[in-house]
Amino acid sequence: MHPFTDYYKNSYSTATSFEEMFDASIFYLNTSGTKHWNDIFYKALQRFLCAKDIVNSAEVDLKYLHENVDSKYFTFNTLGEQNNSRPIISDVGFDFLKFENDLYLKFMKWIRLNVIKENFYFQKTPTIRFHIPGVQRKLTLPAWHSDSFLGHSPKEINFWFGLTDNKYSDFWVHNLEDSRQWFSEYNYDIEVWKDKCFSEDKEFMSRGFDKSFEVKDIYNNIAIFDSRCIHAANYRSIRDFTTKITMDLRIILVKDFEWLVIDGTPVFKGDGIKRAEFRPGSEFGYDARTVEEL
Ligand SMILES: [Fe+2]
Repeated sequence: MHPFTDYYKNSYSTATSFEEMFDASIFYLNTSGTKHWNDIFYKALQRFLCAKDIVNSAEVDLKYLHENVDSKYFTFNTLGEQNNSRPIISDVGFDFLKFENDLYLKFMKWIRLNVIKENFYFQKTPTIRFHIPGVQRKLTLPAWHSDSFLGHSPKEINFWFGLTDNKYSDFWVHNLEDSRQWFSEYNYDIEVWKDKCFSEDKEFMSRGFDKSFEVKDIYNNIAIFDSRCIHAANYRSIRDFTTKITMDLRIILVKDFEWLVIDGTPVFKGDGIKRAEFRPGSEFGYDARTVEEL
């Protein structure tokens, strides 16, 4: 039995700040009638890709990035364990977010003022993902998970949104009730869960699709959800043969933050390539400052 199993069992049965705040599993923040962050990041990315000579015009429709960029950017430079591999274009995305850090901080302050209305820690650098149609299927997708299975705190709040205006998101989320039910069937043991997930078990994969819903209109909304909700992205396919570019990040209320060690092992340590520690000031974790300290 995994040493954190009891911890997960408790975390999945108690209410989080997200549930208290939103009384839902997922909340869609419509941005089209307010500050359109999706479009602000989209245009910033267009300018960045052009300045770096990755595309030849700042007008390139990024939904068709796959037709406008050297295919070398879509190859995989490393193949880590359990889907810890990203195409080279991801490194460009990481550089973009470092370059646009001030914009990101403005976004976090806006979220504090308009949505969360409480002090929080936030991921130091968000993640930008490029989903290109027609690529070699090197990863196990969908990889059903909650971020808490990957070292994030179950008390975090997830933010997920599109920069591109795609017809389909290929991003599927379970509500909290079903996430609780499904994880309980694995006795809250993340190792048993992951073994099943990465065995490419057909029944497991389709069970996920049966109970989840696909996030819609990703360019005009920010999906904000309880971190315990099980979710997964799928490959782009012929039903929408476009490049999808998304951003995701996590925050945690200051009152919810803790640094937990069980049997000598930190619970909130990522199992990705970077072994991120999800605490303030850690290189790949949260910014050292709370949002109110910006
Ligand atoms: Fe995730």
